[in-house]
Amino acid sequence: MGEVSKVAIIGTGLVGRGWAIVFARAGCQVALYDGQTGAASEARRIIETSLQDLKASGLIGEPEAVLARITPVATLAEALQGAVYAQESVFEKVDVKRRIFSEIDAVIDSQTQVGSSSSGIPASAFTEHVACRARCLVAHPVNPPYLAPIVELVPAPWTEPETVSAVRTLMEAVGQEPVQMTREAEGFLLNRLQAVLLMEAWRLVEAGLASAEDIDRTVKYGLGLRWSFMGPFETIDLNAPGGIADYARRLGPLYQSIAASTTEHEVWDEALIARVEAERRALLPAEQLAERMVWRDRRLMALAQHKRNVEESAR
Ligand SMILES: NC(=O)c1ccc[n+]([C@@H]2O[C@H](COP(=O)([O-])OP(=O)(O)OC[C@H]3O[C@@H](n4cnc5c(N)ncnc54)[C@H](O)[C@@H]3O)[C@@H](O)[C@H]2O)c1
Repeated sequence: MGEVSKVAIIGTGLVGRGWAIVFARAGCQVALYDGQTGAASEARRIIETSLQDLKASGLIGEPEAVLARITPVATLAEALQGAVYAQESVFEKVDVKRRIFSEIDAVIDSQTQVGSSSSGIPASAFTEHVACRARCLVAHPVNPPYLAPIVELVPAPWTEPETVSAVRTLMEAVGQEPVQMTREAEGFLLNRLQAVLLMEAWRLVEAGLASAEDIDRTVKYGLGLRWSFMGPFETIDLNAPGGIADYARRLGPLYQSIAASTTEHEVWDEALIARVEAERRALLPAEQLAERMVWRDRRLMALAQHKRNVEESAR
């Protein structure tokens, strides 16, 4: 980024901490604010460890310089003073979000824009009452945002188009990959896509058609390989000699037939959950879950490093 900008992180839990790394890594000054006393300072300590991990994976050069840009502050007003942008990452509860947006509204500068990390609650549910609402939107990340660069920008009906474009520009400048929705829809893009796949995965197990393990392996050794560098539309564009229209004409009837056979959407019942849980726990005992999460993050770091090398050599 050109000139050094200040960004406020409001709520310094798992996601707020991740955002702090994104902005500080890109050269922004980052103010950390959390409603719980001591939480922002504690967050900075956890960030320090994450930065060491990123350095060990070759993803950042100087953790000390990144950390030096991150400052815990005691008040929301202090966090927001002079900030070009604020990323709200408080609890996923509509009343908590409504209250923090009232508090933000009381002290925000006239130019600051605010993105909410909200996973499912649309901005229209917690920004209608505030004067700064035209400068608010959802900016939904995937955890951790410093390894998974996607950010879903979802405007409320009253979000100004200039807000969406400015936040998009900022996100690109700090190395994220924004995608934009034209209006609110439950689950945004990522979880709507994930929902379709997950619904079908559970249904296949319920119908006794395959094990949970083989469904995971189908993604791990099949679909997921391509999906880590291109999406479903590009995948099918390259999967027929004449491109996507050719694919759609050849295989449209098959997909329509599959879709017609799976219109019922059962809620995952307890018996089914118990079956899949038993299968997963046989493969990964509960006491090894935390260790496996660390393994996942290291794999993600290795993948991020690989993708960065490939993208650099393609330039
Ligand atoms: N966990 C994920 O994988 C994930 C991914 C994407 C988005 N999100 C979204 O990000 C947001 C934060 O999730 P998280 O997992 O970091 O939660 P978290 O519980 O780890 O952290 C929330 C933080 O917000 C603070 N907080 C709560 N109320 C506050 C207030 N009024 N003022 C200031 N600080 C306050 C809490 O003290 C806590 O430190 C949620 O909206 C969540 O849905 C989560």
